[in-house]
Amino acid sequence: MNYVLATANQDKVSELVKILGDDIQLTARPRWVPEVIEDSDSLVGNARLKARALLGATETASLADDTGLFVDALGGDPGVLSARFAGEGASYADNVAALLDAMAGMENRRCEFRTAAFMACPCGAELWVESRLAGSIAGHPLGTGGFGYDPVFLPEGGGGRSFSEMTPEEKNASSHRFRAFSGLGILLRFHTHP
Ligand code: IMP
Repeated sequence: MNYVLATANQDKVSELVKILGDDIQLTARPRWVPEVIEDSDSLVGNARLKARALLGATETASLADDTGLFVDALGGDPGVLSARFAGEGASYADNVAALLDAMAGMENRRCEFRTAAFMACPCGAELWVESRLAGSIAGHPLGTGGFGYDPVFLPEGGGGRSFSEMTPEEKNASSHRFRAFSGLGILLRFHTHP
């Protein structure tokens, strides 16, 4: 079965190929398909918007995901707004700096990454999984790898290291995205098209 992905980012495509396995064929989002405005107030809602828009444009079963970092002491912020916590067009470094500022002096650093992975099929079926990965926010950035909030995210069970201090293989084998797409992969294998 072939699926088109809501991302054109080759690194993400390769990561998902590894997670979903060889029997599920993935194609990157064609360049002519415009990006979608992600204005839902939930991760599943945004992933659904992306998958359905892609399905409408390509008439092919479509996969999309949406991720957010939810920090307990900030009442769940930045959450669905993780990509623009420091404002529209903010860089990863801006967002990390804004997060550390917002948490200055806070003792409770508990947080979790959540990812929603969504499939929209031309037959009308919609399948989705939302997964979580618990961790805590470091006091300052650690390591140089990864992207986004990786330098300040210390996953539970990671020995106090941030995602940025791990190899891509180590991060990808335990990440929130891995958990969500592994679960969705199981559902996809049970999905029979009428
Ligand atoms: P997206 O839904 O995958 O585009 O993720 C939204 C935002 O969450 C990104 O802009 C990043 O700031 C953050 N994010 C998503 N995945 C990761 C990750 O694996 N590590 C660190 N930050 C991430």
